[in-house]
This record gives sequence, C-alpha cells and structure tokens, in this order.
Amino acid sequence: MIADRLGGLAFGGDYNPEQWDEPVWKEDDELMREARVNLATVGVFSWALLEPEEGRYDFAWLDAHLDRLHANGIAVDLATPTASPPPWFTLAHPDAMPVTRDGTRLVHGSRDTYCLSAPAYRTAARRIASALAERYGDHPAVAMWHVHNEYVTLCWCEHTAAAFRVWLRARHGSLDALNEAWGTAFWSQRYGSWEQVLPPRATQWHRNPGLTLDFSRFFSDEVVAAYSEQRDAIRAHSDRPVTTNMMQPGYQNVDLWALSREVDLVAIDHYPDRPGLDAAADVAFAADRARSFGGGRPWLLMEQGTSTVYEQGRTLAKEPGEILRHSLGHIARGSDGALFFQWRQSKAGAEQWHSAMVPHAGPDSRVFTEVKATGEAVSRLGDLAGSTVTADVAVLHDSDAWWALNSDGLPSSELGYHSALRNAHRALWDNGVVTDFAHPEADLSRYRLVVAPALYLLSDAGAENLRRYVVDGGTLLVQYFSGVVDSRGHARLGGYPAAPLREVLGIRVEEYRPLRHEERIVLSDSSHGTVWSESVRAQGAEVIAAYTHGALAGSPALTRNHCGTGDAWYLSTQLDDADYTALMSRLLDAAGVGPVRPPGIEVVVRQGEDGRCWQFVLNHLAEPVPLPEAHDVLTGGPVRELPPGGCAVLTGGPL
Ligand code: GAL
Repeated sequence: MIADRLGGLAFGGDYNPEQWDEPVWKEDDELMREARVNLATVGVFSWALLEPEEGRYDFAWLDAHLDRLHANGIAVDLATPTASPPPWFTLAHPDAMPVTRDGTRLVHGSRDTYCLSAPAYRTAARRIASALAERYGDHPAVAMWHVHNEYVTLCWCEHTAAAFRVWLRARHGSLDALNEAWGTAFWSQRYGSWEQVLPPRATQWHRNPGLTLDFSRFFSDEVVAAYSEQRDAIRAHSDRPVTTNMMQPGYQNVDLWALSREVDLVAIDHYPDRPGLDAAADVAFAADRARSFGGGRPWLLMEQGTSTVYEQGRTLAKEPGEILRHSLGHIARGSDGALFFQWRQSKAGAEQWHSAMVPHAGPDSRVFTEVKATGEAVSRLGDLAGSTVTADVAVLHDSDAWWALNSDGLPSSELGYHSALRNAHRALWDNGVVTDFAHPEADLSRYRLVVAPALYLLSDAGAENLRRYVVDGGTLLVQYFSGVVDSRGHARLGGYPAAPLREVLGIRVEEYRPLRHEERIVLSDSSHGTVWSESVRAQGAEVIAAYTHGALAGSPALTRNHCGTGDAWYLSTQLDDADYTALMSRLLDAAGVGPVRPPGIEVVVRQGEDGRCWQFVLNHLAEPVPLPEAHDVLTGGPVRELPPGGCAVLTGGPL
C-alpha cells in the first residue's frame, strides 16, 4: 500500500524541476516542507532530457533531484516519459507519428504525438521504461511508478491498420464471421480478404457500427498491452507499485475495468467542468468510478487543479475553500491522498496558464495558503489509509455500451452515455447516497438498488445477470434505449430489450419515438420527459406513469414489475432533473436504502478493517450546518457546527 511507504496519505503533485534552476529548487524544498508534501510525480515529460539522442541517456540531473527530494523527506512517483516523445524521435521514425482519421500525419510540437501501434514507438517506450527502472528500481526515494500519462492518442495509420487486422483475426476467427458480425451484406461492404479491412477512417457517410465498435475495443486492448509492457519492464527491476493515471471521466478510449486489472492501484486525474455544487457532484462521480474500477480498494487522486475548473473554454477560479473540499471529497470516497498538477506554475510553455500549488504570484498567495491548509488536513488523516467505502447502490457502467452508443445513425443525436451516467449518479448524490459503478456482468448481489442508464448494448450474459439479480431480490431500474443490441451490435428482434430482461421488466418495447429538440412532455404523474419516448406494452408490469399526449397517450412511460423476490422498474423517457431525483428517492425508499440527506451536505463513511470509522461531512452550502457533537480529526477537537463551505472528519458515533 502506497500509504505504508509514505507513512500516511499522499499529498503533493507533478513536479517538473527541469523548468527551473537552483534558487527555485531551494525554495521548492522549503515550500514543500511547509505544505507537507510527501509525494512528487517526477519525469512525466522528461524524455528529451533523459534520452537526448536515441540510445544515449543522461540521468545525472534526475539523480540529483531524486537525491534532493529524498533528503527532504519527499517520496517520488517516478514516471516513464512516453506520453511525449522528443523531436529526434519524430525525425528518426516519421512512421510512428499518428495519422488522423482524415489522413493528416501529425508532427511534434505538442505532446501525446505517437502511434501506439508503431513498432518503433513501442520499442522506444519499453527501452526508456526499462532504463529508468534499471537505474532507479530500488532508489530509496522511489515509492511508486507512473507509466506514461493519460493514454489518449488514437491513430488511423497503416501500423494501426495492420495491428487492427491481427486483432480482428483473433476475435472473429474468419472473414465470414467478421462479415456476419458487421452486417456487411448491407451497402456492399463485404470483405474478400483481411487486407481490405481498414480502420474507420474518414469516409462518405455513416461508418459501419460493427467496425467502429470493434475499433474501439481494439484500441483499448492496445492501450492495455502498451501499459502492461512498460509495467513488466519496470517490474523486472523494481518491487514498487506501478500504475498509470487514467484520464477524465468523459474520455472513453479505454475500458477502465480492463486497465484497472493491470495496475497495482487505480490512479485518476480529475478536473471538474462546471463550478459550484456541480463540481462537488463531479468530484463524487469521478471518485466513485475510481473506487469501483479498483474493486473497492483504495485508489489515488493523481491530478487535480488548485484553481481551475474547465467550463466551455474558460478556466474558472476555484472558490475559497474548494481546494480542501474537493481534496477531501476524493479522500472521503477512497482516495489514499490528494495530488495536483502541478507543483509550481510554469512561467513558459504550453501550460503556463494552468493553475499550480505555487502560483506565479508565489507563496504569498491565497492559493498557496489554501494548499498549506489542505496539506495540513491531509497529514492528519494518515490513520485512515487503506480504509474502504461501502455502497448499497450501483450504476451499471460498460465500455461496450458506451462505444456502441457512439455509433453513427442512432435514432437521436441527444443520447450520450457519459451524460446518462452522470445524471444517474447526480440524482443519487442529490439524495445523499454513495454509489458504486458496476459492470453488467459483475456480481451485483451486494447492492439493494441497481440503475441501468443508456445500456444500449447488453450481452446475453449481462441480460441474464440482471434477471438473476431481480429474481434474487434486487431492485433494478432500467432506462430507455437499453438492452437494444447484442455484443456484436445486432438489434434484438421481437421487441426490446433483450429477452430475459424483457420478461423480468414485464414489458415489451415496440417502437422508439425520439422527441424533437427541446420538446418537453408531461406524464400522468405530472413529471416531465425530454429527449426520448417509447411505445411500451405492459406485459405483466404495473403502470406507474403513462404518456398523456399524442400517439402514445395512455401508454406506459414508467412501470414496475415484481419478479421472483425483487422489483424491476422501466423508465422509457428522460425525466427532468427534479423528477428524476424524486424517482431515485422513491426507489431508494423501496429498496430500503438510507439514510438520505439533503442536497449540498455530503456525508461519506470510510471504515477500517478494525471497524474504525471516519465520517466525512462536507458542507457545500452557503449556510452553516449543525452537527451532533463529535471529535473532528481535522481540528483535533470537538465540533458542533460546520460553517458555510466547511468540512469535518468525525470519529465517534453515527451522525
Ligand atoms: C492532465 C494532464 C496533465 C496536465 C493537466 C492539465 O490531463 O495529465 O499533464 O496537462 O491535464 O489540466
């Protein structure tokens, strides 16, 4: 466990000392001590310095920084620099530069510019990872390894095409099977040889959905393989944990269930894209995902910003108190620390305007003052390292469903997987419950309520798993346009959703009727729907709310079916936020999940193996919140009230 190596929770961030000089390094040493930094991520973008020419290494500068950090009591999360190959690499291996969908070959001058399937890139990446591990594998400063940085770069070049074909042969076995899976009988797409198969490059109209789904799966496997190669190269020389930082929840280039199986601990980066309460909800969303991907084990917030929230092309300042509150929001939900990008704000270069722990203004600043307060708070929470969080509710999360829902030609362009997940999580968060994410084929028996939003693609095994979950006593909410296609993306025939699920729900969906842009309909229980509607026939299910207008007037919109010892609900439209939150409240009640807290006050419990509990209370509201008297670990004293925006970590007695 990383906390064992650090003697507590991790606090710190990306440290790029190569941007600075001796006097600044001296100040860094002092300020890091002041801020109680104990972990620095070093070397993420250092390839050009570490290997100035192909095969010639210069480690002297890194030796000096690792020794300095170690002498200062700061451990290192040592990165492999493979997210940003140096210019010499491009010139030596132009074929390893990525090609966009429309055929443009990119060049260096930014970062993340490589083709993951190019043999020269993979060889160079393994080589530098291996050289670093050989030199620093048992360096006393090195506490963990950080492979690469956010695997994001897609490519459509000839190397990719070749690797894709190898992958397709392994998946489908024969061209006939591929032709059948992709439905190439339509639009004269039948492939007569493997060489005819191309990645989904720019083309005239809708791309074949089987091709795009398989390409997403292929790319994800390529990432997992590239990561695993570097991890194995490191493990040959080092016994320290190895991970990679997973990108923002909105990116879905990689199946994070699969990648998480390969890392020693899940690590994520998180930058909210909306301010205020939405940002707090987004912290919870990202943190609950990270915990779930790691199977409930503690994980690590590898990057966040000190003063920026991305919103539609602007970087908004975090409000006073949010640096601490967001950090605690992640820790409450299982992170064994809070790290930032980056320690010191760059004076030049591509991210000179990105926030940092030490801003351009220097240590005499609001940001650094809040960073110090956060470091102090995190340092008091060392005892809870390794403790875990339990949830009674799960939202289903499946990469195949996500990718399939990105297909061209769906009945509405307003169907988004990420937004559907986020809305479901938000409606539960607004009800004050902690939510896990789970794969549709995972064991769901420990959850009282399972929510399946936008589960467009559902495998036969997944449908059977959901049937069993309900029959065995679970409460399930399936939402519109779910269980519609099988693992190959083929439509389920005879009525949606997939057969065993249809029976459990006691309904049959006969027709999809997307709503017009911004159309809002009213249901018989006065709730409102947008985006989507369906012609649903109740076949045993009780109708809880019906459509009231148009062709669907009188037909079911929301149903409930008792099946075995559980209940299966079906929602065939997208409810307004308030109505959706109210539905979740009703379902939580029916499933016996509580306690439910008012929105804006977040309460999460971490529990140790020895039964010790820490209750995080985060007040996101502008009013004070009274608390029953308890001991607050953050202040080391009793607490009776949380001020607006205040936080406490309570021990002793439930709230
Ligand atoms: C992350 C990335 C960092 C930095 C940061 C800025 O996605 O890993 O290197 O660019 O974004 O927000």
